[in-house]
Amino acid sequence: AEESLERHFEHTIERDQRIEPRDWMPDAYRATMVRQIAQHAHSEIIGMQPEGDWITRAPSLRRKAILLAKVQDEAGHGLYLYSATETLGVDRADLTTRLIERRQKYSSIFNYPTLSYADVGVIGWLVDGAAICNQVPLCRSSYGPYARAMIRICKEESFHQRQGYELLLTMMRGTDAQRAMVQDAVDRWWWPSLMMFGPPDADSPNTAQSMAWKIKRHTNDELRQRFVDMTVPQAEALGVTLPDPDLRWNPDRGHYDFGPIDWDEFKRVLRGDGPCNAERVARRRRAHEEGAWVREAAAAHAAKRRDS
Ligand code: ACO
Repeated sequence: AEESLERHFEHTIERDQRIEPRDWMPDAYRATMVRQIAQHAHSEIIGMQPEGDWITRAPSLRRKAILLAKVQDEAGHGLYLYSATETLGVDRADLTTRLIERRQKYSSIFNYPTLSYADVGVIGWLVDGAAICNQVPLCRSSYGPYARAMIRICKEESFHQRQGYELLLTMMRGTDAQRAMVQDAVDRWWWPSLMMFGPPDADSPNTAQSMAWKIKRHTNDELRQRFVDMTVPQAEALGVTLPDPDLRWNPDRGHYDFGPIDWDEFKRVLRGDGPCNAERVARRRRAHEEGAWVREAAAAHAAKRRDS
């Protein structure tokens, strides 16, 4: 019976159909999906912090309303993705514990500080731009609940990207000091944005199997290149310089060449030694502890209703 279930799973993947929660799936497929979706959910939740730091300091009511809405969207994406993870038989409380005990990862990018308001624009433009590049193909991921969640999330991410670009355009049309703030933010976020796509293909332990299972549709390096090609003309339109002397169009490849990425820095951040890792996790832990009474009250309320 196991063999025919396995054949059914393989056929479903081959025919580009979706694996659904009640379907049989190999343990390793389930574990990979839990790993990837949980990491993605944690990234959305931790990702609220760097931008959230600017909500009380936004330069106008309009900017504050936009930023509030965006950070709320991220909370929604996180909850949506935790729900998708629960279809695989895990519990979100357990996933939160794994995050605050640092047993599960979240995106490296959220371990960098937001030093000026221009960072809010650059996160929208580059970080959400990179996120879209990575996530649009995930709408065709083989696991149904994840692929469907990605459709809505990508729509909201495109709006986030546009608001970032519009913010930067406004600043670039402002004073010299504002233009300098934008350039400084671009200089700090460019390389970490390229690292979001993960290690080079040759050093990516999960890519081959995830491609075979059609969880991933492109490799890390393919998506990184797509992001560079898409972003260079946008930087030109904006009037900022991307901090890479080796960045130039290669007519033979039909792509932009770019300089070497500092993978030691990436590994340091993944180990927990990035500029803000400790702060981000500590804050998440504090928020979780301070929310204990709400969870207890909700559970007590549910129990009372059940018993009455
Ligand atoms: N930050 C933190 N960890 C990373 C990153 C990164 N930028 N890139 C790779 N890793 C981790 C992987 O999770 C993996 O560790 P694990 O095996 O302990 O889980 C290890 O580095 C090796 O990487 P890969 O073998 O390439 O891993 P994978 O095939 O999972 O590819 C990728 C990584 C591309 C991030 C994939 O998991 C993915 O597409 N995830 C969904 C998108 C996502 O999580 N986005 C979050 C940021 S965007 C946002 O929230 C706005």
